[in-house]
Amino acid sequence: MPDPLKQAPTAPLAPGGIAARARAAAAPPYLAGLNPEQREAVEALDGPVLVLAGAGTGKTRVLTTRIAHILSLGRARPAEILAVTFTNKAAREMKRRIGEMVGETVEGMPWLGTFHAIGVKILRRHAELVGLKTNFTILDTDDQIRLMKQLLEAENIDEKRWPARVLAGIIDGWKNRGLLPDQVKRGEAAAFADGRGIKLYAAYQARLKTLNAVDFGDLLLENIRLFREHAEVLRQYQQRFRFILVDEYQDTNVAQYLWLRLLGQSSSSPPPTEVGPARLRSLDEVAEPSLERGSAGGRSARVSGPGGGDSASTYAASPLPPASVSPHPGLPSAVRPSPSRGGWLQAVPS
Ligand SMILES: Nc1ncnc2c1ncn2[C@@H]1O[C@H](COP(=O)(O)OP(=O)(O)OP(=O)(O)O)[C@@H](O)[C@H]1O
Ligand SMILES: [Mg+2]
Repeated sequence: MPDPLKQAPTAPLAPGGIAARARAAAAPPYLAGLNPEQREAVEALDGPVLVLAGAGTGKTRVLTTRIAHILSLGRARPAEILAVTFTNKAAREMKRRIGEMVGETVEGMPWLGTFHAIGVKILRRHAELVGLKTNFTILDTDDQIRLMKQLLEAENIDEKRWPARVLAGIIDGWKNRGLLPDQVKRGEAAAFADGRGIKLYAAYQARLKTLNAVDFGDLLLENIRLFREHAEVLRQYQQRFRFILVDEYQDTNVAQYLWLRLLGQSSSSPPPTEVGPARLRSLDEVAEPSLERGSAGGRSARVSGPGGGDSASTYAASPLPPASVSPHPGLPSAVRPSPSRGGWLQAVPS
């Protein structure tokens, strides 16, 4: 199988060549400071793109420039781009950088933010469809623990032996894997309070609904449920988001990945119920190396920026097609992530 990372860029820029100089002269100013690989990733607007490069080599710069490029070409309006970051600080920084490139247009980018911020926004709009009111509250960790203590007490479970904090961690883990109470395998719950973990999880979810509250894990979990149970709502967002871009894609957990995959499916593709935890149980599982699942059609760009460096760090920028997840078969071992980083993902057409 050819190694996509080793393929020549479609439009190699020969330094100093006449063609290169002509292209540089014609290029909008925001493209001028990019190296050829960065520029290729910015300009490849059709189909999924994964940018894989070391720390500090200019991946986020590619992402922000790509957004500027999409806006300046008129390929999408600001409200039609979903751009996800892991921190609010990163989202602010990204907005600032795009603003510098394209001016005030960026003010209207309502869907550039963290998974949580965007998750809350979608959930408030459709709260009643998942049993909440629009003004639902978001519990912090202390509230969450307090609530779990009450539930343990109600079940006559000794909190000293089975601490609420441990239960909170277990439930959070299930939520991060996109699992509702009825989707958790019995065996998995055996470890807590003699197998009562699932019952406690279900009771906790019911209590949250009564309180008109969610915890952080629910923000995406309830989004996923909303999208799965209300195809028309999902379709509305699929049609809205013409481009989906994700910084630090390698750090997405299963719930974040499922959420992205639902949104990235084309609205004419099979209903989202086909995409479920049965097929995608955990990130470890889907990230198992497999040579059969390659990068059929997806594009990869290796960005060598000013910093160099060989630690792996990835993100994907796309419109995401109905995607499967696969480690890149052609990835040289030097840039394989360490297991502690949780594997890495590539969006490829299924
Ligand atoms: N082609 C380039 N020429 C000059 N400077 C660049 C270029 N590309 C990126 N930079 C600068 O290098 C620094 C790191 O870029 P950026 O934050 O995009 O890297 P990154 O790969 O996303 O880093 P991280 O691994 O920390 O997420 C920034 O100051 C950025 O402006
Ligand atoms: Mg970055």
